[in-house]
Amino acid sequence: MNFELSEEHRMIRDAAREFAEELKKDVIERDEKALFPTDFVKKMGELGFMGIMTSDQYGGAGMDSLAYVLALEEIAKVDASTAVIMSAHNSLVLWGLEAYGSEEQKQKYLVPLAKGEKLGAFALSEPEAGSDASSQHTIAADMGDHYLLNGTKNWITNGGNADIYLVIAQTHPELGHKGINVLIVEKGTAGFTIGPKENKLGIRSSDTHSLLFTDVIVPKEDRIGEDGFGFKFAMKTLDGGRIGIAAQALGIAAGAYDLALAYAKERKTFGKPISTHQAIQFKLADMEVEIEAARLLTHKAAWTKDQGLPYGKEAAMAKLHASEVAMKHTVEAVQIHGGYGYVKEYHVERLMRDAKITQIYEGTSEIQRLVIAREVLR
Ligand code: CAA
Ligand code: FAD
Repeated sequence: MNFELSEEHRMIRDAAREFAEELKKDVIERDEKALFPTDFVKKMGELGFMGIMTSDQYGGAGMDSLAYVLALEEIAKVDASTAVIMSAHNSLVLWGLEAYGSEEQKQKYLVPLAKGEKLGAFALSEPEAGSDASSQHTIAADMGDHYLLNGTKNWITNGGNADIYLVIAQTHPELGHKGINVLIVEKGTAGFTIGPKENKLGIRSSDTHSLLFTDVIVPKEDRIGEDGFGFKFAMKTLDGGRIGIAAQALGIAAGAYDLALAYAKERKTFGKPISTHQAIQFKLADMEVEIEAARLLTHKAAWTKDQGLPYGKEAAMAKLHASEVAMKHTVEAVQIHGGYGYVKEYHVERLMRDAKITQIYEGTSEIQRLVIAREVLR
């Protein structure tokens, strides 16, 4: 067993770390004003991050999942919003298009997405279908040569800024999850409108919108896979997506830890640095252990996927643990900063707000436990 990163992996981590330095400058303002990082998303395209796992044949960087999580961790340490934009685009849109799309779909949609010229979004959740993802109310009625799409999607990351949307919808309600399809819909298609932006607790500079579909015509050639493949497509996609969110959560936790460690060495009370108080040392020790455990689980999930082995359980374990660690230790990082932790300029309050979503999206912690338990009990 080898825990050392390869030269290539170190290079991608360092490139992401360098890029994250640039993200630092206006991160507080972007959070406060909920500004989408348009220029940074463009820059991520130029750096190859927006097609990091897509093969070079389709305009991507052709790297593995470990490279992806290393880059995401570095970006999330500084700006969790930019990290989720990259994660949703790569794991939830590009991966599925490459794995299951037709050659025409890949040329038309995947290539500009992987080059970072276009942005993707994945629309599964609905007002009444979140954890219970198979109870889709959005209908894709089969009209012979096309589908007629009607319904509402909720909480869609990149919702306002995306160009290409993968939309999950029910075609044969009598078949339950086996009647669900996944359709590619472009922004600007007649009948497709974007709802107002959500005003969120955290990851405020990523944009989250509802999507409304009224008699939207989608040609049959824009369906991915066979009729009825949509639910399995979504589940398989989310297995990989959860590795990305684990890396995002890991980055949030590690970013808060770095700040807390530096602050603990600097801040003096009772004539000595607070890092010499055992109560603070124990918090730092717990952070060191639990963040490293989250990193190992995340890297193992990525490695398992890269080996071509089943990785659903590993992804759920990494996401569950990393998100719980992110929440717990961002709270501790604020505590270590005392009153300074409660104001924006010290960054840890933002990381604490950003951490919460990692326990909710791409399957709540309760759903991760359900996925893990089903595998364990199988
Ligand atoms: N891979 C392949 N197939 C899978 C699968 C997987 N990981 N998980 C389930 N399936 C298949 C099952 O084998 C079954 O197929 P058969 O009938 O042919 O055997 C079928 O799917 C139905 O499976 P279940 O009976 O297990 O389905 P369920 O209704 O009980 O739901 C669930 C299972 C795990 C709870 C699922 O609904 C789920 O993952 N819910 C959470 C939804 C979620 O994560 N949403 C995230 C939205 S995207 C997002 O949030 C993005 C973002 O923030 C950036
Ligand atoms: P519910 O499913 O109503 O759950 C409510 C509570 O009940 C939770 O605590 C849940 O864990 C618990 N619960 C539900 N069922 C069970 C059970 N069987 N056992 C135990 N506990 C249970 N979706 C997309 O499709 N695409 C996106 O890009 C996207 N981005 C998002 C971005 C943000 C900022 C947010 C907030 C959400 C996003 N989502 C997205 C939606 C997200 O995936 C859902 O919010 C999430 O899956 C939970 O669904 P819900 O909100 O309907 O909660």
